[in-house]
Amino acid sequence: MKVAAIVGSIRKDSYNLKLAHFIQNRYKHHFQLDVLNIRELPFYDQDIETTPPQPVIDFKAKVSAADAVLWITPEYNSTIPGVMANAIDWLSRVDRVMIGKPSWIAGSSMGLLGSVKAQGHLRDILFSSGISSPLLPGNEVYIGLVHEKINEKGELTDEPTIKYLDLVVDNFVKWMEETFHIKQLKNQ
Ligand code: FNR
Repeated sequence: MKVAAIVGSIRKDSYNLKLAHFIQNRYKHHFQLDVLNIRELPFYDQDIETTPPQPVIDFKAKVSAADAVLWITPEYNSTIPGVMANAIDWLSRVDRVMIGKPSWIAGSSMGLLGSVKAQGHLRDILFSSGISSPLLPGNEVYIGLVHEKINEKGELTDEPTIKYLDLVVDNFVKWMEETFHIKQLKNQ
């Protein structure tokens, strides 16, 4: 199973990026997680959507090759960051590579509520016609006060959060197998 991670923060010390790397490492026997680079994507522009620059071509190809997408989002001003919305706009047009591709969502913020509002908006967006991505039901991952849960080496250390993530990943791989007939790596 190959999963593409789209992280809604492009800063180098991003907690959400650290969370992506934690998931990549801890669950490597379940799926290969490819953390995609959205920093190089230009602003979506309808004038060039059929002749996009190379970073857009590469990004879409990687999403297209993945069995599922993991969206990991911070919250900016009560919604998803512009870089994530921009990536979604590219994905929603021309070859519409997200249609029918399964998704799951996680996210963290330094506030108490762990990106709950951003994730609510993202959930709506995933159901829009240009994306139409089936979303893992339930299993909502809101990591609040993330700066207290990740150590100076960038590792997630909060045991209750780790246990919960284990459960969500278990549910995700079962859902992928039962609904989409895609097996986790250790069963392939
Ligand atoms: C934030 N932050 C934030 N947090 C939150 O819980 N709700 C919010 O609406 C916002 N809004 C917001 C806007 C902008 C422009 C910034 C820069 C930050 C704080 C945010 O949770 C914190 O900076 C996270 O650390 C961002 O995620 P990364 O970059 O660490 O992955």
